[in-house]
Amino acid sequence: MDINKVAVIGGGTMGNGIAHVFAMNGFNVNLIETRQEFADRAIGTITKNLDRMVAKDKIDENKRNESLSNITVFLEVADGVKDVDLVVEAVPENLDIKKTVWAAVDKHAPGHTILGSNTSSISITKLAALTNRPEKFIGMHFFNPVPVMKLVEIVRGLETDGATYKVVEETSKKLNKIPVPVNDFPGFVSNRVLMPMINEAIFCVHEGVATPENVDEVMKLGMAHPMGPLRLADFIGLDVCLDILNVLYEGFKDSKYRPAPLLVKMVDAGKLGNKTGEGFYTY
Ligand code: 3HC
Repeated sequence: MDINKVAVIGGGTMGNGIAHVFAMNGFNVNLIETRQEFADRAIGTITKNLDRMVAKDKIDENKRNESLSNITVFLEVADGVKDVDLVVEAVPENLDIKKTVWAAVDKHAPGHTILGSNTSSISITKLAALTNRPEKFIGMHFFNPVPVMKLVEIVRGLETDGATYKVVEETSKKLNKIPVPVNDFPGFVSNRVLMPMINEAIFCVHEGVATPENVDEVMKLGMAHPMGPLRLADFIGLDVCLDILNVLYEGFKDSKYRPAPLLVKMVDAGKLGNKTGEGFYTY
């Protein structure tokens, strides 16, 4: 099966990046948001990022305009999914919100539609069970900033079938991304490896081993990471990091995943990183 038309649900940081890459690679995209102002903000961000690519000679003006014209905004899931081949859900990591969204998608999307979630922490098998087609449900986990990062972690739930995997793998390649298959376990591979590193960096600050700047310098200069773990944590969102660590901790019942108390305290204080203007750094 060829994917031509895609619905991206949610136009936040991940959703607008996902819509951007599909539209830029010739797919028709229905971008679904809950309010016009959120949709306008998403289109504004996509436009700004496409303009940046034009300024850097990565794409030309025609490509920019064609990409934007490939995106149509919808404010109802029922309208936005009724004629698509693939859905990619990128709504907040809240199970109640996801339940409402997936019930609507399952009701209104055609029978052949593949259902993908960009969740970074919720079990794909659990989300698949919210629908009547768990064999067509799969994780499509993109990385921030989506237009730049090459990886799509493709997560197979317990019942995801081989045909669904194949289509999503091929589609990811058409986005100029590199798909990597993993099975559905807490944190998949990406966050199971990344989050303990970030957590340990926070323990280093908490225990006075080094300042945030110095922890980050060690990892940037010594390990060739493009960003240190604490700046990356701010970039991802400290609330998101805490949620994922809790999923690992609950999922494995292993104390090695316990979130650093300093991380919990910062989230309690509303210091969530870039998005609130303060985390381990100020912005
Ligand atoms: N859209 C398009 N292009 C973008 C962009 C965007 N949103 N953001 C950055 N770029 C481009 C820039 O134009 C620039 O292009 P160039 O190399 O051709 O000049 C390139 O990306 C690098 O950007 P900058 O020069 O502005 O800045 P940096 O060199 O500092 O790179 C970075 C920024 C790409 C964010 C880099 O620091 C990086 O790779 N950081 C690590 C990011 C990472 O680990 N992401 C994964 C987070 S985990 C996740 O998402 C999963 C979730 O489940 C938690």
